[in-house]
Amino acid sequence: MTFPLRPRDIFEELRKIVVGQDDAIREISVALVKHLVGQPAPNILLIGNSGSGKTTLMRAVEQYLTTTAGLGDFANVIRMNANVLAEEHSGYGRAVLARLYENARRKLGADAEMEKIIRSVEHAIVFIDEVDKIRAQVSGAPNVRGIVAQEALLTLMENEHVTFGADGAEHEVNSSGILFVAGGAFEELYENVLRRATIGQDVTPLQPVVVVSASGEVREELPFHLRDYLKYEDLFRYGMTPQFVSRFESIVVLNDLAEADLAKIFVEPEGSIFRTSRDYFKRFGVDLQITRGALINIAWDASRQKRLGARALREIFRRVIRNLEFEPTAGVVTIDEQMVKKAITSRDSGRRER
Ligand SMILES: Nc1ncnc2c1ncn2[C@@H]1O[C@H](COP(=O)(O)OP(=O)(O)OP(=O)(O)O)[C@@H](O)[C@H]1O
Ligand SMILES: [Mg+2]
Repeated sequence: MTFPLRPRDIFEELRKIVVGQDDAIREISVALVKHLVGQPAPNILLIGNSGSGKTTLMRAVEQYLTTTAGLGDFANVIRMNANVLAEEHSGYGRAVLARLYENARRKLGADAEMEKIIRSVEHAIVFIDEVDKIRAQVSGAPNVRGIVAQEALLTLMENEHVTFGADGAEHEVNSSGILFVAGGAFEELYENVLRRATIGQDVTPLQPVVVVSASGEVREELPFHLRDYLKYEDLFRYGMTPQFVSRFESIVVLNDLAEADLAKIFVEPEGSIFRTSRDYFKRFGVDLQITRGALINIAWDASRQKRLGARALREIFRRVIRNLEFEPTAGVVTIDEQMVKKAITSRDSGRRER
């Protein structure tokens, strides 16, 4: 069977939607091609701060696989939140298999052969978001829901004979060939590893460096990148069991988004904040524009909100655009640097007064 795609084709498509995460996209693109041609592919664990693009990336891959012509026959994809696995009374991720079965049914048609349906389930791709929420222990105490969910997933990942019910019958599949891509922010993990790096436990202590941002601001920053310091033990300590973690042959740490990435995210991708806003204004005969200075300031402000990632863009833009949205007047409206600075100042001083 000839497969129509190379990893780079997938990479280029995903890059239009996901900004600043080229390493992660590369890794996923290769894994996808391997999996889709029927070779062993590594399960992937995506670790990245909140708002760095994990869900965006998973959603983009799902979208790509389900809408690209010619891939329909290869790809049976679902995306779910990890905590759903804890809610499953039937256990062992059977509901996951049932969903894949339904998917295959829908895709292959009502009168597809059972053998084809089962094969589609066995070669499915499963995205599991918020996997950091299924910890086996939380602050030293066992977390039953997390244990149950990790067990369920583990069973799916390695079991050659899993049964599940669908269409009023029991089916058996070998689920060990399903490709899993999981993602989570692992917030405390970040803090813990950062602490280890800062105090110099097992490593030379990190020293702050002076950085000059794109907007010309000078500040001190710790040159900390989780991927430089992360060890398997850190994940165990966080509450992911060794059996679970070791099933992810590839662990990818996403980048923290830099100012330039944030600016790009704000304007470029389809459905970006700015494009969406432009569409809104267009309905009222308004041509919404933004100056370079305004854009730089929005990105700069967002990059200061360390814990929000790209979500911070939305927050600051809302402050800038609020009044304009209420009463749009036809013509050209340009968001300039002054408007953004004013919004930032009023928010920052509001914070001080509290
Ligand atoms: N790398 C990125 N490329 C493009 N857009 C991004 C990126 N990162 C974040 N965004 C934008 O920011 C918003 C939040 O991103 P997303 O939901 O992917 O974050 P996340 O990493 O899943 O965070 P969390 O850990 O909180 O779930 C999205 O609406 C998306 O538009
Ligand atoms: Mg997310």
